[in-house]
Amino acid sequence: MIDIPATIRNLALEEKAALCTGSCPWATFKIDRLDVPSMILADGPHGVRKCLDIKANTSQSLPATCFPTASCLAATWDPELLYTMGQAMAEEAIAQRVDLLLGPGVNMKRSPLGGRNFEYFSEDPFLAGELATGIINGIQSKGVGATIKHFAANSQEFKRYILSAEIDERTLREIYLPAFETAIRKAKPWAVMSAYNKLNGVPCSQHPELLTRILRYEWKFDGLVVSDWGAVPDLVRAIGAGLDLEMQGPQPVDVYGLVEAVRAGRLDETVLDQAVSRILTAINRSLETPKGGVINVTRHHELAGRIASEGMVLLKNDGILPLKKYERIAVIGRSAKEPYFQGGGASYVNPTKVSTPWEELRQQAPAGTELTYAEGYSLDRKCCNIFAEEAVANAKSAELAIVFVAPPPLTEAEGYDRTSIDLSRHQVDLIRSVAAARPETVVVLNNGSPIAMNEWIGDVAAVLEGWMMGQAGGKAIADILYGRVNPSGKLAETFPIRLADTPAYLNWPGVNNMETDVATYGEGIFIGYRYYDAREVPVLFPFGHGLSYTTFAYSNPRASATRFKDTEGTEISVDVTNTGSVAGKEIVQVYVHDRKSGLIRPYKELKGFAKVELRPGETKTVTIPLEYRSFAYYHPSYQRWITEDGDFDILIGASSADIRHRIRVTLQSSLKLCHILDPYSTVREWLEDSKGRAILEPILKKIIEQRCAAMITGEHKDEAIVKSMMNNVLDMPIFMVFNYFEGYIPAVPEQMIHYLISKINE
Ligand code: BGC
Repeated sequence: MIDIPATIRNLALEEKAALCTGSCPWATFKIDRLDVPSMILADGPHGVRKCLDIKANTSQSLPATCFPTASCLAATWDPELLYTMGQAMAEEAIAQRVDLLLGPGVNMKRSPLGGRNFEYFSEDPFLAGELATGIINGIQSKGVGATIKHFAANSQEFKRYILSAEIDERTLREIYLPAFETAIRKAKPWAVMSAYNKLNGVPCSQHPELLTRILRYEWKFDGLVVSDWGAVPDLVRAIGAGLDLEMQGPQPVDVYGLVEAVRAGRLDETVLDQAVSRILTAINRSLETPKGGVINVTRHHELAGRIASEGMVLLKNDGILPLKKYERIAVIGRSAKEPYFQGGGASYVNPTKVSTPWEELRQQAPAGTELTYAEGYSLDRKCCNIFAEEAVANAKSAELAIVFVAPPPLTEAEGYDRTSIDLSRHQVDLIRSVAAARPETVVVLNNGSPIAMNEWIGDVAAVLEGWMMGQAGGKAIADILYGRVNPSGKLAETFPIRLADTPAYLNWPGVNNMETDVATYGEGIFIGYRYYDAREVPVLFPFGHGLSYTTFAYSNPRASATRFKDTEGTEISVDVTNTGSVAGKEIVQVYVHDRKSGLIRPYKELKGFAKVELRPGETKTVTIPLEYRSFAYYHPSYQRWITEDGDFDILIGASSADIRHRIRVTLQSSLKLCHILDPYSTVREWLEDSKGRAILEPILKKIIEQRCAAMITGEHKDEAIVKSMMNNVLDMPIFMVFNYFEGYIPAVPEQMIHYLISKINE
């Protein structure tokens, strides 16, 4: 173990500066004379990507289990399962001598076009935060570090190195930060990775408010802040703002700059020492875990398959699934044989093996089933459609067609966004012509983010969303199609009907859809289902949707308290019964609807969920706690999460659109908030505040008496005039009242207004 204070005392300034950068793309500096070893870092979010040569940053990496990507993981709604996956990844990291894993990614899916959406969990910050907590706890339970990324607001790839995400404070606090906050508070990841982009004009890797005020002071994060690879424009500023480690390395110019800045007094050496201390703390943590061993390829492959089968979502089923015995099945589509199971970029894992749907279907099909294969479509979007003829002929002569559809490889990748949510023309035509020839058509999709289906969904009998399913997803598909696994995944993101319906449509990729360096998050807190609810926009499949081979009834909804203080909260319970004939799992979702609030709020917000496994006929009670933050919203004027007295509806649902029960509860706020009044606050706002009212009312009375006396003379004596004037006055900012009525009241100097305001806001 490193004696940190002693080491910092003995390190030369140049050594300290060097420690704050990587020695190569994947390791920190080692300082042999003081026995400081280096720490090895590797991606990633859904499998270990340890570069074959960590010094050269080659694209080849050691074989490791490729688990499903985050879209699929999120659809499991199962933090415990993700904990198990985290443990498996940590075991592989240990075997490959990796100390710190660069994942999970918890950025919000603001638009379905986001190039890295497949690496992110959800459009909902609560769900993303709970899932990240599970996976981080799993990784770290084995003594390997996790890195939550990309902090913050890295929701698009377009111009990601320079783009400024322009986000108002409330939106940041309610949508883009909570997943980080939850996981950091609950799971204490060893590291946070700062994002490439700017946030409101300041690069995230040198953003003092993000990296110090929010992260360290508010959330009490005491770990390491590492930059995204190459994301630091100015290391001196970055260290000053709260960054500890610039990756990738080496960065000799930046090291020199740090040394110079300390020598010139532009950077306090104690700030540098603090960063060094955090790096050494992470190294010490990694030293507690002896490295080495081998990967349990078989066990982890099976786990990857189990997770995939829990995350796949049965979107539509007219009863054709699970498959019965068919004599002849037409398997169509190249992704049956060449599975599309992960995305492109830094998260790309070199799989230990790959199971294909084609092979798995052949193994699981009952004896006597004949399976034919047709490629179905070409990867070349422009290619003529000769593939379809073979596919349609096969479908005609079979009793069932299974069409596998996936975008061409690298359609979804780090570094660029998607340009459309549509399948290629050939794929759509293929599905439609196969379905016309064989109404018993099942479509199996592999994609990292939503695709449009309106053109063909009505033609087919069933649709299974298989996601980027990881290396063992082929078996998961066969398991679900044949009913060996009862599907239980539910969408962690809305599937829109058209791209034009989506929340960020008019502000993507930049202001006014233009390719500027600025992205205005104009839809504010209304992303995902929050937006579709508010605008009453119909969707293809709602957030939380997913079918099963059984049915579930919800009964006996109750709250442990229906009147409670915000600091105490309440617990929501409901009984869930499996009313079908096969065992299955149900994901119960609890949303909170605020009946009246000071600021506009989404119609409903997810605040709890539970996954429960039930045998046919079995009933279990699920209980979901709701606490302060379940009812609070962030108020920019108070710069804090506030609660307000009043009634809330607790919505218990099987999806965001399938609400089974409502419970009315009444919350008592512990806050005694006074209005924040300033010269621009209106008379109405002053009167709503008791202190404000006490000050303003006598002045107003005087105005009315004198002004009205002047107005209401002779034939103009009209009460309506007084009323209309009062309405006008109520909406005037306070500074204007005094200007407007000058002459009717003794002049109130500006200083006086400020004095009154300071008294009120004390
Ligand atoms: C990505 C990170 C990744 C890093 C190292 C960057 O390009 O944005 O997510 O961890 O590379 O591979």
